[in-house]
Amino acid sequence: MPLRVCFTSAEMTPFAKAGGLADVSGALVKYLRADGHDVRPFMPAYASMRRDGVEIQPVDFLQHLSLQLGAHRYEFSVSTARLQDSDDYVYLIDCPACYRRESIYTADPDEYRRFLVLTHAAFLCCQHMGFAPQIMHFNDWHTAVGAALLRSTYAWDQLFRGTRSVVTVHNIGYQGIVGAAAAAEILPGGPVSMLDPADLAAGRINLLRTGLAQADLITTVSPTYAREIQTAAYGMGLEGLLHARAPALVGILNGVDYDEWDPRRDRYLSQHYGADRLDVKAGLQLEFLQRLGLRNAPRTALIGIVSRLVAQKGFDLLFDALPPLLQARDFNLVALGTGEPRYEDFLRGLQQRFPQRVHFHRGYSDELAHWIEAASDMFLMPSHYEPCGLNQMYSLRYGTVPIVRRTGGLADSVQHFDPATGRGTGIVFDHYDTPGVTWAIDTALDLFRDGSAWWRLVQNGMGQDFSWSRQVRRYVEVYDALLQP
Ligand code: ADP
Ligand code: GLC
Repeated sequence: MPLRVCFTSAEMTPFAKAGGLADVSGALVKYLRADGHDVRPFMPAYASMRRDGVEIQPVDFLQHLSLQLGAHRYEFSVSTARLQDSDDYVYLIDCPACYRRESIYTADPDEYRRFLVLTHAAFLCCQHMGFAPQIMHFNDWHTAVGAALLRSTYAWDQLFRGTRSVVTVHNIGYQGIVGAAAAAEILPGGPVSMLDPADLAAGRINLLRTGLAQADLITTVSPTYAREIQTAAYGMGLEGLLHARAPALVGILNGVDYDEWDPRRDRYLSQHYGADRLDVKAGLQLEFLQRLGLRNAPRTALIGIVSRLVAQKGFDLLFDALPPLLQARDFNLVALGTGEPRYEDFLRGLQQRFPQRVHFHRGYSDELAHWIEAASDMFLMPSHYEPCGLNQMYSLRYGTVPIVRRTGGLADSVQHFDPATGRGTGIVFDHYDTPGVTWAIDTALDLFRDGSAWWRLVQNGMGQDFSWSRQVRRYVEVYDALLQP
């Protein structure tokens, strides 16, 4: 049976992306629709969003709507956005007071209100459209509180009588913590009992916690992360609640949109390849090394990194690991990312010290991200924690061996290679320390020298299938289960 789903997310490809949340939201909407469901996706009309090749059409009956949050009044209008060659559309919430800013996320004091507006706008649009969603699917702290709004502010409306809420945790490291004085803005007319008493006593409200406590179903983006977030080591203070809600918590591994991430048709590459044309991959590497001005020595591995440069991603381990490895071993390194200055400074410093072997591009570039996947021999993700991670799955398809720490979705998508059996798809290390990551990189470089083992490892990875068409069925199953009387 086709389902009616209202979907809200702070990021969605191809319109606005800071990280994997965008890839996953965009793909989930696309593949749910391909499966026949009526999905209404809502996201902000950021000033910085992609506009080239995008058709934006105002929705005539959704103009100049208003919303009161405590003492603040917001006006917004709604448009649809679609790529010129596609039928897939999203609803853009155009609220200039909230979204006419330089970037998707800000450190401004009203950051939480920017996303409260998005969350309410989804409810208000459903009302104006007469759309009775069976599922309201909220993502991360930005819109999680929608699960509480469904049971309070909007509970009077018969339209939502049969609606069930799903909150997906993409990253528990971001919870949306605001001062307790904001209570009336957060749950207008809603009971204070929905707010965590211990948080209130400490003078704060946790938006993610509030949503998780009320959600009919909580999903997260890998089975291992679903277990990890119930522990003190990974739960970031929400482990107690998540453990208590374990029967309503499920981990569904993210998928890959192979329309976007496949070397056989990647729109950014000058040539295409599959598992039987690794000579093309070698040619792309040569072209890329020349473009970056890196040294091209025969049989020298290229290690790639594409990442937000934040503590989660484990780059602290590289401070002590990479300089000696670069001295002792023969490999090149290319890194793309932005984030905390200490990681940017470190990578910039490595480039200065090893100018022909290390290239750091500070910034965000889809084109470079695709080239790094295609041209590299190995892809490094030493994450401290990783709810799912997408680049390791992209890497597998590109014949680029992932070097990952055994955590979250990395543990669920990469199996350590055993040369004795020829089984496994990457290099996996357990201990979050310098010897751990050094061992992993050393092991990868040793295997790389052994042509036939490396070939097997690359082939194993390229044969993996993490396609969304399969993963989306898991979402439909859990939606269906929620709707059982
Ligand atoms: P996270 O969501 O924690 O950042 P994921 O691995 O799930 O991690 O997704 C990251 C996504 O963002 C990938 O599609 C990756 O290619 C992309 N990405 C991250 N940093 C950059 C960058 N600097 N330039 C281009 N793409 C980037
Ligand atoms: C988050 C996580 C990442 C995950 C992505 C999409 O930002 O850090 O591991 O893949 O969301 O779910």
